[in-house]
Amino acid sequence: MASENLMLQSASTVAPIVDQTMWVLLLVCGGTLLLVFGLMLFFCARYRKGSPHSRVVKKQQSLALEIGWTAATLAIFLALFVWGMLVYFDMHVQPEQAIKISVIGKQWMWKIQHAGGQKEINELHIPINKPILLMMTSQDVIHSFFVPDFRVKQDVLPGRYTYVWFEASQVGEYQIFCTQYCGTMHAQMIGRVVVLSESDYEKWLEGAGAAERALESPSKRGEKLFTSLACSACHTGVDQAIGPNLHGIYGKKVHLDTGEEIVRDDEYIRESILYPNAKIVRGYKPLMPTYLGRVSEDDLLDLIAYIKSLTIAK
Ligand code: CUA
Repeated sequence: MASENLMLQSASTVAPIVDQTMWVLLLVCGGTLLLVFGLMLFFCARYRKGSPHSRVVKKQQSLALEIGWTAATLAIFLALFVWGMLVYFDMHVQPEQAIKISVIGKQWMWKIQHAGGQKEINELHIPINKPILLMMTSQDVIHSFFVPDFRVKQDVLPGRYTYVWFEASQVGEYQIFCTQYCGTMHAQMIGRVVVLSESDYEKWLEGAGAAERALESPSKRGEKLFTSLACSACHTGVDQAIGPNLHGIYGKKVHLDTGEEIVRDDEYIRESILYPNAKIVRGYKPLMPTYLGRVSEDDLLDLIAYIKSLTIAK
């Protein structure tokens, strides 16, 4: 499964810019190292004991030289900083139109679920030339999702969502590693990303859908959970109900009873299900019981998908 050649492939849109940054840093640092050590060795030889060259220290100072080299190194380091920052932004600002896929890390596997309900384990099928946004969480300990050929790596933490995005630039199979020591089988927590052409990806989606006969979208499953957990008893969808109306709230701002204004995003919904009293919407009482321990990470993703669907029609 591992790639035969030691050199990494450059298989995503950020890979070339990450590589460029790495090479420039290596050249600048390597050049400085060679210069310093080169001069050191040269002076060692030239001014060794018994050499005919004078070793008398001449007292001389040059303000211009002092200022010059301080300013030059400062400029070089600031330039590197700004460059690194721009690359960082490229890698971390999520594109608007990304295909969103959820990932749950657990000892010791990657569970992946697509928006249409297709599930995979240790495999991630994606189309080429499309931005992909992974929304990730862990069911147990800290893991880290790493695809070397894409140059992306992101820690996957229990109790919250982290995100990573990438756009594959060539068809093929690429290794996924867990890079956070997470227990006995950590080294075997590996998988692969399968990058397909647009048409192959469509076929795969259908095929994976057909394989699971009773394939339901996450939002459909979330809707069932919403009823079976009796969420609908309070969140009836009417503004005067015991619980806030959840229609049209996703991604929108709301005032809390503390006066604070927050955005009702995935993280907020997750927190409100597990720790309902953490943030109370203004005008409501802290009556909701916690669902901590009653819903799994998979359930949470389904519930979030359902609540989201009340705002964003598919
Ligand atoms: Cu998961 Cu190491």
